[in-house]
Amino acid sequence: MKVSPKASFKEVLTDGYQNGYAVGQFNVNGLEYLQAIVEVAEEERSAVILGVSEGAMKYVGLDYTVALANAAKLKATVPVILHLDHGPNFDIVMKCVRHGFDAVMFDGSHYPLAENIARTKQVVDACHAAGVDVEGELGRIGGAEDDLSVDEREATLAQPDEAREFAFATGVDAFAPAIGSAHGHYKGKPQLDFDRLAAIRELVGRPLVLHGGTGIPDEDIQQAIRLGVSKINVNTENQSEFTRVVRQSLEDPKVFDPRKYLGPARTAIKETIRTKIRLFGSNGRY
Ligand code: 13P
Repeated sequence: MKVSPKASFKEVLTDGYQNGYAVGQFNVNGLEYLQAIVEVAEEERSAVILGVSEGAMKYVGLDYTVALANAAKLKATVPVILHLDHGPNFDIVMKCVRHGFDAVMFDGSHYPLAENIARTKQVVDACHAAGVDVEGELGRIGGAEDDLSVDEREATLAQPDEAREFAFATGVDAFAPAIGSAHGHYKGKPQLDFDRLAAIRELVGRPLVLHGGTGIPDEDIQQAIRLGVSKINVNTENQSEFTRVVRQSLEDPKVFDPRKYLGPARTAIKETIRTKIRLFGSNGRY
């Protein structure tokens, strides 16, 4: 049975979790990104998650972000979910809830376990009372620039027993464990810890999230999905492609109309997003 086009964050992810596919979270860095993401989702009949970080929210403005997402949702015939990415504290989370976000990620991963649990639970309780779904994180999902020794790396990854405790004590709808992926471009081949992911899946029993989707080889993405990942975040790859096309367009010194370089960049990232949606297997579900 197909899921409803009005499905929530949790419903969309649960469908992926149960049917072996992942929904893409593509970050919104401005109007052109939002348009590209939603247009491809429609064309591919896929659910899509609009990821908005605190930084992007400051850049676009919270009111504009919500208004633009609402404009897209109004005519969308597939689920378009507005989601806070890496919400740093309760106040920002609640601000997004009050403005009409569908889901939030609270990132308490830099706190000790007990404090991460307490803070995440406070967010879950408040959000669930308002009908908003929550993603939580455990372990440290670093930047690709991080140069870590084996021991240091081990210390940053989510421990399966702590993952179980975190998931059940907080009641998060989706769980992002650090398993070796990182935000930004990777220096070498990313080393995802699949044994750890399998153990976590077993103990946590709910949709898992993979951050740092840029630069992870296709076969690793597919393996992660087989092991319970049903949301994958991608940002840097779209930013790089967007900027590459803007640069190319600006090589012509006669170009001064922003539409002449932003338009081609928007078209270009549509294809990056389409490739991801097909790789994640979320196409044709709605
Ligand atoms: P990338 O920028 O590495 O694709 O990661 C995006 C992300 O995980 C946002 O939370």
